[in-house]
Amino acid sequence: MLEKKHEMIRKLAREFAEKELAPYATEVDKTGEYSKDVIDKLAKYKFTGITIPKEYGGAGGDYRSLAIVMEEFARKDASITSYIMANSLSGAPYLYYGTEEQKQKFLKPMVLGEKIGAFGLTEPGAGSDASSIETTAESDGDDYIINGRKCFITMGPVCDHIVAFCKTDRQAKGTKGISAIIVESFREGFSRGKEEDKLGIRGSKTSDIIFDNVRVPKENLLGKEGEGFKLAMSILDAGRITVSSQALGLAQGALDEAIKYTKERIQFGKPISKLQNTQFVIADMATKVETARALIYNTAEKYDKKVGNITKEAAMCKYYAGEIANQVAYASLQLHGGYGFMKEYAIERIYRDARIMSIYEGTSEIQKVVISGILLK
Ligand code: CAA
Repeated sequence: MLEKKHEMIRKLAREFAEKELAPYATEVDKTGEYSKDVIDKLAKYKFTGITIPKEYGGAGGDYRSLAIVMEEFARKDASITSYIMANSLSGAPYLYYGTEEQKQKFLKPMVLGEKIGAFGLTEPGAGSDASSIETTAESDGDDYIINGRKCFITMGPVCDHIVAFCKTDRQAKGTKGISAIIVESFREGFSRGKEEDKLGIRGSKTSDIIFDNVRVPKENLLGKEGEGFKLAMSILDAGRITVSSQALGLAQGALDEAIKYTKERIQFGKPISKLQNTQFVIADMATKVETARALIYNTAEKYDKKVGNITKEAAMCKYYAGEIANQVAYASLQLHGGYGFMKEYAIERIYRDARIMSIYEGTSEIQKVVISGILLK
């Protein structure tokens, strides 16, 4: 259930999206760049730290608030929500597993918009099978020496530090012997791959991060040595609420565009919204959007109120919202006909942006593995 404060946050987020994001969404899709002004304003309004406690510069809000902001922003421009998502995903390990010193040093500047963080789990050979990572962190006195390559890293081209999941025990099998280690970009041997040229969410930045004998002090270990896989999985649970809200916003945006367009488009002597096919398609789209919304808000509320484990529900949110974002975008573009294929219409961008929703932060197939794994245990 949403409370009054959530409606206030929705109003603020909607106004911000309409004024600061919507007018530039097409341009950002072309250039891949946001103005510094918009990025600064995200921090000013604390959108970069909605769920982070006030002592670390955040808004001290809950996950329903974060979900609402993601939804309202993605409704107008999904790329910007990748900034917030990356901040939230890379900030959470500090918040939940970091020492007080690590929170002050890494989390707070991220929330204040002074530094950018990233979450480094995926590797060229370790995508869905996250435990097969090959990046190693070898112990050397008071330091680790890190070697390996992380890929598809959101904010990779601009991050100031990354939470890198590394094998600290090479003998350990599978999910064991993995640790979360903070690696700052200033360290010798840290480099970035080329900025990826993507199909969608082109305003968000993505690249590989390469570690070539990067020496970091052991005080950069997050949580306990060898517990990194569980840390990653627990962070992804809440992360899946965030990313599914992004998918929800995209779906809502696609529905908005379909309603607007079909009321204006005249064929066979009347607006196509008067045709029963259009009405049925719109009804289907809206029902899917509302179902996703209910599932996401319920899961976020369960997480906010700490009512048990949310692993299954978060996977359901990600699976369902990711899929319907694609279905609703497809249906909306179909209602637009040939015009929907043209860049002049927002649905062209929304359709491309939606495609990643069933892939990143765990594919739909992985969500089904998680859901069925819990049900059939
Ligand atoms: N919370 C806490 N612990 C968890 C957990 C959770 N949600 N899920 C699993 N674990 C624990 C298990 O209890 C188990 O612990 P024990 O060893 O003590 O028994 C351990 O972790 C291993 O679990 P599994 O045996 O289930 O692990 P698995 O190897 O079978 O893999 C998987 C499970 C679900 C397939 C996992 O590999 C996975 O989620 N893969 C997808 C990875 C993913 O989402 N990548 C996205 C990268 S982030 C991203 O995209 C960011 C971005 O920039 C957009």
